[in-house]
Amino acid sequence: MDMKTLIEKMTLEEKASMCSGMNFWDTQAIEHLGIPKMMVTDGPHGLRKQTGSSDHLGILESVPATCFPSASATACSFDPSLLTEMGVAIGKECQKENVGVILGPGVNIKRSPLCGRNFEYFSEDPYLSGEMAKAHIQGVQSQGVGTSLKHFAANNQEHRRFSGDSVVDERTLREIYLVGFEKAVKEGKPATVMCAYNQLNGTYCAENSYLLSRILRDEWGFTGFVVSDWGAVNDRVASVVAGLELEMPATGAQNDKLIVQAVKQGTLNEDILDQAVERILRIVFKWEQKKIANATVDMEENNQLARKIASESMVLLKNENNRLPLNKQANILFVGGFAEKPRYQGGGSSHIHSYKVTSALDAVSGMNNVTFAKGFDADTNTVDATLFNDAIEKAKRADVCVIFAGLPDSFESEGFDRSHMQLPSCQNQLIDEITQVQPKTIVVLHNGSPVEMPWAHSVQGILEAHLGGQACGLAVTDLLFGDANPSGKLAESYPLRLQDNPSYLFYGGERDRTEYREGVFVGYRYYDKKDIEVLFPFGFGLSYTTFEYTNLKLDKKTIKDDEKLIVTADIKNTGNCRGKEAVQLYVRNATGDVIRPDKELRGFAKVELNAGERKQVSFELSKRAFAYYSTTIKDWHVESGEYEILLAKSSHDIVLCEAVAVESTVQIPIEVTINTCFADIEKAVGGKEFMDALLSQLPQLQGLQEMENDDGMGLAEMMRAMMKYMVPRSMMMMGDGKLDIEQIGHMIKTLQEMQSCKCKEIET
Ligand code: BGC
Repeated sequence: MDMKTLIEKMTLEEKASMCSGMNFWDTQAIEHLGIPKMMVTDGPHGLRKQTGSSDHLGILESVPATCFPSASATACSFDPSLLTEMGVAIGKECQKENVGVILGPGVNIKRSPLCGRNFEYFSEDPYLSGEMAKAHIQGVQSQGVGTSLKHFAANNQEHRRFSGDSVVDERTLREIYLVGFEKAVKEGKPATVMCAYNQLNGTYCAENSYLLSRILRDEWGFTGFVVSDWGAVNDRVASVVAGLELEMPATGAQNDKLIVQAVKQGTLNEDILDQAVERILRIVFKWEQKKIANATVDMEENNQLARKIASESMVLLKNENNRLPLNKQANILFVGGFAEKPRYQGGGSSHIHSYKVTSALDAVSGMNNVTFAKGFDADTNTVDATLFNDAIEKAKRADVCVIFAGLPDSFESEGFDRSHMQLPSCQNQLIDEITQVQPKTIVVLHNGSPVEMPWAHSVQGILEAHLGGQACGLAVTDLLFGDANPSGKLAESYPLRLQDNPSYLFYGGERDRTEYREGVFVGYRYYDKKDIEVLFPFGFGLSYTTFEYTNLKLDKKTIKDDEKLIVTADIKNTGNCRGKEAVQLYVRNATGDVIRPDKELRGFAKVELNAGERKQVSFELSKRAFAYYSTTIKDWHVESGEYEILLAKSSHDIVLCEAVAVESTVQIPIEVTINTCFADIEKAVGGKEFMDALLSQLPQLQGLQEMENDDGMGLAEMMRAMMKYMVPRSMMMMGDGKLDIEQIGHMIKTLQEMQSCKCKEIET
């Protein structure tokens, strides 16, 4: 039976019921019509399927599943193919557990290090976030299981998450907060998108038709269904109209009744309801077709995959005197509660009942030369003097000491934000005291977002292990002992102090209103423009080998904005061991009028090289690599001018640079009046001709070329600079009365007409 016929057979009540859950995790089943239920559950870095009681806070039990590293970790791999592999593995576990849609990935931008849920998000950079999300989606969906891209949109704090209003200007929204979603929707094609709890510019995301219909469907071509975040629906009828198809979880049919009532009263067009039902049913039936009966999973294989992904995602932040990798024969002391009980995932809805967990201590259980002193408890912030002193004493006698530090769950979680960026003080204190007796100290960090490191200068090594998933102990020891070579790079800047973060003054907002006043200057876009020192920059990470970048080539020196630019460069491993390098490509606009970040990430490539080996990397750049979002034409626009292509090891370490001239194929019409600057008029359609005509009537301004004054400052140059900011009205005083206001007005009218012709072209 085709979908339309099926919907025709449904009663109004049945259609309304199809638009909300049957329970906490399943869509509605209607047996007599052959409509099965479909399980829709968390996500994102592993499966959380509850078979007993349900909750969306990750407290109650769920079936054992592989816990992969969280998104804050995997983004640092700068390797989308790993996300695809992870997605495939997760998809297989979903097939085994009969799950039709797994919720995630989360692609919200890390506006501030304080967001309690940053561990579930990829980056402060939208391009990197989008690439990673797309790869994750493609992996899961290759197994016939749907994903749910979340939380749409501008959901960048946990504080007041059910009521807050994110107030974001259009350009910032488009360039920073929507790009990741856009890329993931257009290229990853998720089966579903989850709308966020918060309001965006005064309207709940759940009923925001601008977001859910105009942008998501009309502009980006989304064809799946939109699901509410759990409990995000405010006004059910308004949300159906806006484009939210499925409400989750079940609300005892309370909202279904409102839908029925609205149709009966004529306030909701039944066609809109039919369309919502159809969108849901298409995914449900697709899942029925793709379902694999009796699917099996090799959980050990997935555990090894979790280990590989973790080791490629961890970031070596410091390695003074090449202290790492450790000598496997040395007398090594592991310190810290996290060595035996790692924090490897975050708290809340993504909390997985891990199939197995390997701590660093488990991983070295066969090595007699590695000893352990707990020093502090992983879950608390209290100094236990006995544990403390024991660790210090043992550290004195060891050849090298590795301290496993990190944030306890109570310091960062879904549902609330952090108020500071510090580790528990007991840990800072112990690190400090140990470095005084043992200079060869390494710190391994288990955290979902940046922490201040007051001891960074006094330890010899720092390995950022993030929330590294169930195999994190294996990955950490692989890296510490050199069985794997670190290749992760930071997907977010680590500020020195919280106060340095661009959103610091406004983050969290006033009561429910949070204004994103820093605009597009998020993360390195701010730090680099302001040249503010950070602890570790975006894109930074060390390796046990070294890489040389040479031969940066652009296939053209000049392009139009609708043409592609091919960029190539050679990367060579100049060290002694095999390694991987995450090469980053940033674009800098060197000449434009629009206020922009210093540079923006527009490409990256992870390349694996044997010692001495050289490989070419290549990037293809198109319009969006040069564009900003113009609120005048409501579209992406490239300013004509010079752009620099930067090849970099991090946002602070630009190795190679080449320039390209990009010519815009779209001229933005401007409003021309007698008070418009000549600088703007010159750029308008017909502006150059206007200026020539005007100047030809002012003989005293001609011949400026020849004028030079004594001190070498060209008078002509000076005059031209001054003229730029004069306006047509001011020409009356220049023309000895020759040029009257009527004449000027006439010229302006012609120019205005030319602009409005251009406007019409854009509208059509
Ligand atoms: C979270 C979602 C999650 C849902 C279901 C909500 O509280 O924000 O990310 O998917 O619960 O557990």
